[in-house]
Amino acid sequence: MGKIGLFFGSNTGNTEAVAYQIAEKFNQLESGLVDVHNIGGSTPEQILSYSHIILGIPTWNTGELQDDWAFFLPKMESMNFSGKKVALFGLGDQNGYGFNFLDALGILADEVLIQGGTVFGFWSAQRYQFEESLAAKEEGGEALMGLGIDQEGQANLTDDRIETWVKQVKAEFGL
Ligand SMILES: Cc1cc2nc3c(=O)[nH]c(=O)nc-3n(C[C@H](O)[C@H](O)[C@H](O)COP(=O)(O)O)c2cc1C
Repeated sequence: MGKIGLFFGSNTGNTEAVAYQIAEKFNQLESGLVDVHNIGGSTPEQILSYSHIILGIPTWNTGELQDDWAFFLPKMESMNFSGKKVALFGLGDQNGYGFNFLDALGILADEVLIQGGTVFGFWSAQRYQFEESLAAKEEGGEALMGLGIDQEGQANLTDDRIETWVKQVKAEFGL
């Protein structure tokens, strides 16, 4: 078992692909660091068996959670994240959904905080264009609550973003 458990949900495969890219970057830095799981087949016990956790979620249906995450979220109400170090990434489309960009990332990060977890991996909101986002609550809206990836509008930035964020999270996790 790796030190980090990465759990993603994905309707059309974009978040799944990014999840494996993130895992590959971590594992290049230290082999076997990250295990990847689809939240659709995961249990609360599996998530809480890790001290370091990464959660990946796209926003769907104008500000909603991805389907498997929507099904899983009620289970989080009885999960104790205290002592857990958690980082999140979200996928969204800033041009198509500028009033709900990455909302699911914000909703999921809030739930982790409510259940006592500590969230790492905040990310500057500067190089995105959107009107509103539930993910942009840190530092007066200047920071997202995790890495934001936009495969519709900014796919050319994805590799660099992942590379930088992975190094940041590894350091913040103290690994
Ligand atoms: C019907 C529909 C609704 C969407 N709603 C949002 C939204 O509210 N906010 C957002 O940032 N992205 C939204 N998106 C964009 C998706 O999050 C984006 O395509 C993402 O890469 C999908 O990830 P997945 O392939 O892992 O499911 C929407 C896409 C579709 C097709």
